[in-house]
Amino acid sequence: MIADSTSRGYKVRNLFLSDSGKLQIKLSETQMPGLMTLREKLSKIKPLRGANIAGCLNMTTQTAVFIETLVMLGANVRWCSSNALSTQDQAAAYIASQDIPVFAWKGQSHDEFLWCLKQTLFDKGQWWPNMFIDDGGELVELAHEHYFQHLHKVVGVCEETTSGIMKYQRMLKHDLLKLAVFDVNNTLTKSYFDNIYGCRESLIDGLKQGLNLMIAGKVAVVCAYGYVGQGCAEILKSYGARVIVTEVNPIHALKAVMDGFTVTTMNEAASLGDIFITATGNVDIIREEHFAKMKDGAVLCNMGHGDQEVDVACLRKYPSQSIRPYVEQIFLPNGKSVILLAEGNDVNLGCSNGNSDFAMSISFTNQTLALIEMWRQEKLEVGIHAIPKEIDRFVAELHLEKLGVKLETLTERQIEYSGIDVMSYRLPA
Ligand code: ADE
Repeated sequence: MIADSTSRGYKVRNLFLSDSGKLQIKLSETQMPGLMTLREKLSKIKPLRGANIAGCLNMTTQTAVFIETLVMLGANVRWCSSNALSTQDQAAAYIASQDIPVFAWKGQSHDEFLWCLKQTLFDKGQWWPNMFIDDGGELVELAHEHYFQHLHKVVGVCEETTSGIMKYQRMLKHDLLKLAVFDVNNTLTKSYFDNIYGCRESLIDGLKQGLNLMIAGKVAVVCAYGYVGQGCAEILKSYGARVIVTEVNPIHALKAVMDGFTVTTMNEAASLGDIFITATGNVDIIREEHFAKMKDGAVLCNMGHGDQEVDVACLRKYPSQSIRPYVEQIFLPNGKSVILLAEGNDVNLGCSNGNSDFAMSISFTNQTLALIEMWRQEKLEVGIHAIPKEIDRFVAELHLEKLGVKLETLTERQIEYSGIDVMSYRLPA
């Protein structure tokens, strides 16, 4: 069942799921200290008053806490998911029940996914976004195609993920980017804690919930040793897998080998692996020539944004059977078969619940402060901007408190001796 009241501003799986969504969201709030502090300190002064935010980011329980925070801080929000399989239907139903426009359900076709993006951008002249939150750049790309004449009213974009930043870099190179982008993805706190710590736990959830796969003793191939890949390689090793890394970046390859992993090409790794995990943010990482070399029963999954790292279009040429939702066996022409998880989409969100509350609190606290900063500046230059470092440090501080950690403070003499700039961030007052 799909509950559609497009005119009232939602299309979700089932509105009756909102009560169970609410319970989960309230529980998640207890693990999202950064967002809760921002609510406590800023909901009276409403620093996002007047902001119309179009958001395209996995519509999960954690995202629901983020959305409600933005609303409490004064923003008008419309939302869709950044992935066809990542919506948690209870969370989407709860957001719809709060009269916050949302267009998201788990298991969308490509056309449905695009439809949801368009609904988020347009409301028949009733709604004009002046800020975007994106996770992969799809909404921003659509805005450049269909909202071009209004882009001058947009203050900017806060981007959540590597592949989104890659997209804007390409647009910038061809003089196609017309907006200012805050690169939330590359804050230290986002890339460490969401990409490494979040993914290293949620990868295992995806593999276990999808397949209940025994990891110990297997050969796991992790494509790319960026932050996500590091988290994946480390956790697989800790479960007893023998891990091979593939890389294009010599520095990342050197780090991987010095961390104790075998580093080689996909051509060589293809015949060795039992489990393949892509984490590059790029396209066409595992292709036809690699499938042909794989062991019978090799498992293919992705931890990067979207579904373009494994060549799923190629696999679709072959006969297949669904074992259970988002677990497919695909029969190759050579008589062997491979198992594809989450249709090549992010396995942690497609087959499980994504990264945990605490990891997402860190990312979304960065996002909220970046939005406030952007809204405060009103007009930023077109291009990709780093988030001020003091915001990054402040986000870490907010999460340390919850873990009961006390920090040392530098003495005057230490500050003078070391020249360390004690950057402190002040919330709007
Ligand atoms: N990306 C990875 N995990 C996520 C989650 N739980 N919510 C939103 N985006 C995510």
